[in-house]
Amino acid sequence: QRSFIVSSPGKTILFGEHAVVYGATALAASISLRTYCRIEPNEKPEITVKMQDIETNHSFPLESLPWDIVPPKDVLHPPNTLNNEIVTALEKLLINEKNNVLNYLSMLCIIYLYLQIGSPNQGCIITINSEVPLGAGLGSSATVSVGVATCLLLFFGFIQPPKEGEDYSRHESLTLIENWSFIGECCIQGSPSGIDNAAATHGGLIAFRKSTAKTTVMKQFLTLENPLSVLITDTKQPKSTKELIQKVCRLREGSPLIVDSIFQTIDGISRSAIQALESETDVRRLREILGQLIFINQKMLEALNVSHITIDRVIDATKAIGPTKLTGAGGGGCTITLRNNDCSNEMFENAITKLNSFKNSVYDSLLGGPG
Ligand code: MEV
Repeated sequence: QRSFIVSSPGKTILFGEHAVVYGATALAASISLRTYCRIEPNEKPEITVKMQDIETNHSFPLESLPWDIVPPKDVLHPPNTLNNEIVTALEKLLINEKNNVLNYLSMLCIIYLYLQIGSPNQGCIITINSEVPLGAGLGSSATVSVGVATCLLLFFGFIQPPKEGEDYSRHESLTLIENWSFIGECCIQGSPSGIDNAAATHGGLIAFRKSTAKTTVMKQFLTLENPLSVLITDTKQPKSTKELIQKVCRLREGSPLIVDSIFQTIDGISRSAIQALESETDVRRLREILGQLIFINQKMLEALNVSHITIDRVIDATKAIGPTKLTGAGGGGCTITLRNNDCSNEMFENAITKLNSFKNSVYDSLLGGPG
């Protein structure tokens, strides 16, 4: 077995978070922050996971895995839901571990993948380093799921690395990576739409829609005629995507008609954005349209009760430079701001100073980089 190093980008959801879980269209773009994963053989029959950013170093003996409940091996057709029996067995294994979101995620997806494709004797060491802030709505867990899935698929020879000069951007291996990383996402997020791991796999700008039956995914790869950058602000307010998805689910159970009509509006927002991105050649006009859509989408997310006071503060601080909305699950996490056409450098600097005074972190990121 050889060693491999892979990397995957974080993402920002431009439009459609939460509603996408219920079949609405959403738009996601990769950003310049990335997660790096390395896999190498382990002399011992163990899986070792090292995550330097969070000072984690754990080893699991392969024999402690629940091999007795392994489903039939079919690497080329990963399941699209999780086998509860396996999750319960894995949770028992992890009971004494630190309750750390990423730790939990990577363990679960690694072990699950191992059950499917690994051999009981071949150990491996996986080292993860991430530039993507953890649990901030920029898809950190998806970058880990994608990185780990890619590493394991390469390590066991199910996919091959790109050849010198080969364009890997629409390679069939990416579908396999996307589908396996979705299993990792299910471990951590409960019932995600799959948009985060799709964005971390393919990069670029993606219009994404999942049928409510959760069996078919529609993906459209959009090309940006002009580079589009956004200001990303990390409110540093921790949140749990899983809990926020459940919160929206409860709201919908209580008021299905109203919540479904909000989802429909959000779907319309995403579709209008796609239309503008595909047909508007005047960049100033494009910014204007996207800006209005950002404003309305944020109002819809407030109605779904997933915004947060820390997000309101960022919206206020960035008012002079352009419209801001939360990105990802909300409840804190990150926001994105699209600069207005008439935003001067001075206005921009003033907003940054204000954001820094709240101890927020700010990143200026170009959208739609490589997967
Ligand atoms: C999280 O980045 C986006 C959500 O819509 C959840 C999902 O789509 O899986 C909140």
